Amino acid sequence: MRNGTVIICFITVCFILLWTTIIQFSNQRDSLKLPAISKSLSAIVRYNELNKNEETCVMFLKAHKCASTTVQNILMRFGYSRGLDFVLPLTGNYIGNPELFDPSLIPAELTSPSRRYDIFAHHTRYNYTAMKSVMKDNCKFVTILRDPATLYESLFNFYHIENLVNLTLKDIMKSQKYWPKLNVRMLKRIGLNQMSWDLGYNNNENIDKFIAKIDKQFHLVMISEYMEASLILLADLMNWPLEYVVSLKLNSRQMDKTKQLTEDEHDKLIELNLIDAELYDYFLEKFRQKLIKYGRKRLFKNVNKLLKLNKDLQSLCVDKLNNKGYAKTTSFDLRNSLNWTCIYSTKSELPFTDEIRNDQKERFKTMKKLEMLLIDIE
Ligand SMILES: *[C@@H]1O[C@H](CO)[C@@H](O)[C@H](O)[C@H]1NC(C)=O
Ligand SMILES: *[C@@H]1O[C@H](CO)[C@@H](O)[C@H](O)[C@H]1NC(C)=O
Ligand SMILES: *[C@@H]1O[C@H](CO)[C@@H](O)[C@H](O)[C@H]1NC(C)=O
Repeated sequence: MRNGTVIICFITVCFILLWTTIIQFSNQRDSLKLPAISKSLSAIVRYNELNKNEETCVMFLKAHKCASTTVQNILMRFGYSRGLDFVLPLTGNYIGNPELFDPSLIPAELTSPSRRYDIFAHHTRYNYTAMKSVMKDNCKFVTILRDPATLYESLFNFYHIENLVNLTLKDIMKSQKYWPKLNVRMLKRIGLNQMSWDLGYNNNENIDKFIAKIDKQFHLVMISEYMEASLILLADLMNWPLEYVVSLKLNSRQMDKTKQLTEDEHDKLIELNLIDAELYDYFLEKFRQKLIKYGRKRLFKNVNKLLKLNKDLQSLCVDKLNNKGYAKTTSFDLRNSLNWTCIYSTKSELPFTDEIRNDQKERFKTMKKLEMLLIDIE
């Protein structure tokens, strides 16, 4: 009887010891993951507390090959860290194009309970009325343009247009007789005057009227060749601190692969893309005026600050560059895989989009289910 009690006590003690060890061990395992989660949460909370007057709605028309992936990544980070609502396609990264954007392109699973959204940052073709109708009130309309000659060279190589038209860029420069062959759109959407195409230009439209319309509808047209200054104007428009617009260069070809155009080649490519050239010239001048208005001293001070922030981000996050990105574009080996900003500023468009999309599907599903419950009660 006594022996039996001792044995039972002994077994109980052993059991308790084993149990606490297991708990301790699993706690330890959790704590390995915990810092990343709690830090990222605290970063989100901190963002929200930092700036209550920040604008949160932005429609970014992502024109092809205009360094727009950098801007898109900034907007995705901004929106995702705050749980904002994105306009997204069911798969991939296009919602429209070749067709113009239309609200009916938003799939049911990704339709927000309010049917209005905070962030539009994916490829589409512009239609102001349609976009305005899905974005929340006072949404800022923003886009980015680039020198049409270097854009076309980049587009031509990136999409291998050579294979579509059976001409090299060199042939094209040699004689205008080849030019009519370029009036086709790769994948029905990639071709000459790409920026105007993405901005919804239709061929019968008067160019000046088209430009005036874009000017009236957009709050900011950034210029890709002046990325830092562009992002400073974006931060200014959105009332964001510069920390929100830090970036690493995503989706850019390795330097050695970027072709330097001669002046003659440049002129010819401009001549091929005359609509874009007019668009670009107009908004480059407008951009210059905006910068002057912003203030020279303040501008240079903030460009310096942003360059420093980007450099800090690079040294904090990036171990080394590789070119495992889409179509051999630059991507990164991470040094610091616990920092939220590091993780998401190096995430490329498709996986980042997938993550936001999955998160948003779950979120909308939960909210809609709750809405149904409350309707039933009434
Ligand atoms: C990540 O690094 C940035 C840049 O140094 C820093 O500002 C931020 O607080 C870090 N975030 C977290 C969650 O540690
Ligand atoms: C743009 O969108 C509006 C609203 O959805 C639609 O009525 C209009 O027809 C569209 N414009 C074009 C050119 O498709
Ligand atoms: C492509 O170009 C080559 C050389 O100019 C020519 O021999 C060939 O027939 C062309 N192919 C097509 C499909 O046009």
